[in-house]
Amino acid sequence: MLKFNFDTYTDKYINKDYLNKLMSQEQVVREKLRNHPMSGWLENIDPNLLNEIINTAEDIKRNSDALVVIGIGGSYMGTYALDTLFRKYFVNDKFEIIYAGFNLSCLYTKELLDYIRTKNVTINVISKSGTTMEPSIAYEMIMDVMKEKYQGEELKKRVIITTDKDSGKLREEANREGYKSFVVPNNIGGRYSVLTPVGLLPLATVINVRDLIDGANSGKRYIDSAYSYACHRLCMFNGHRYIENFVSYEPKFNYFLEWLKQLFGETEGKQNKGILPTSSIYTRDLHSLGQFIQEGTPLEFETIIKIEDTEEILYHGMDIDDINNIVLNSVCTSHYEHTPSMVITIDHISEYTIGELIYFFFLAASISGFLFGVDPFDQPGVENYKNEVKKNLNI
Ligand code: PA5
Repeated sequence: MLKFNFDTYTDKYINKDYLNKLMSQEQVVREKLRNHPMSGWLENIDPNLLNEIINTAEDIKRNSDALVVIGIGGSYMGTYALDTLFRKYFVNDKFEIIYAGFNLSCLYTKELLDYIRTKNVTINVISKSGTTMEPSIAYEMIMDVMKEKYQGEELKKRVIITTDKDSGKLREEANREGYKSFVVPNNIGGRYSVLTPVGLLPLATVINVRDLIDGANSGKRYIDSAYSYACHRLCMFNGHRYIENFVSYEPKFNYFLEWLKQLFGETEGKQNKGILPTSSIYTRDLHSLGQFIQEGTPLEFETIIKIEDTEEILYHGMDIDDINNIVLNSVCTSHYEHTPSMVITIDHISEYTIGELIYFFFLAASISGFLFGVDPFDQPGVENYKNEVKKNLNI
């Protein structure tokens, strides 16, 4: 269950007339969202597809020591966020996922290929367009290693492609080679795709994706809160707070915050508009950025994901969670002098609550895009860089 506090630590920064004006547009904005051709993520996933994903993940775990996920941006970030969120800090008690195709580091590539050589792997290459440069390069290089290790039917059962239903090089490859494939729905963009086969297949090897989906479905009930959050964000922007710092006091959320940066950055950052998303892990960053937030140029506001209860571990009879949350409340009070904050609370970390949180943020980001007057579901700037690279790199 999610709880929201958008008012206590923003009150003196909010222009109430502007907030009311934004709030009064809710039905119009919801209508725009419902009618947008890229809002396919509003629909529930087909239960047969979910079963197929889970069965495929079971097969992968039976055949392999690790799954190599090849993808970039929305084609890997949600998976990485949730994989790291549900992993133990020190002991890996889960199936291994290896990530590839999200950088052009020679060092990473060399170590990755060497590592894959030592493992029994299945690969899942994920690209909606099927043409993105980084995963294309990684896929080719990894396939060379795969072909050294496996042949014929053995190779074939270890390659899974997730891409567009009909078009792109990867779809052609799947058809030609007879690899198993999944579809990225054409009405869902990369950053909204973690709850499609893009994220669900790899995640099904390490977490309970049925609970994740149940949570996401339950997250639909938070649409009014998502709307209110989006309006508060715009009030912040209107008051010259151009940066949103997403904060967690749980370091396992590090890549979840990275995922949020992509979600909001690509959704609203266009036509000279949008709020720049950044992220911090507290209490660590209170000892670095904390100074700036308390007294520096007043450019930002904070959105904090609070967790009521994680584990029970006592310090002088007091649960560390309680200490962490007393610090969180104290920091909000202290920052309020100079920086406003909003708090979104989950009671504990589970696939279900994270599913709710993901859906809440999908709603909030897309609504924010509409309130800014931009198309929340395109990313022309990302396409620009991809096209410029294509011109200059003939591969
Ligand atoms: O959100 C987006 O659309 C982008 O971040 C894409 O996910 C990213 O550029 C990867 O694109 P593709 O899946 O086509 O390889």
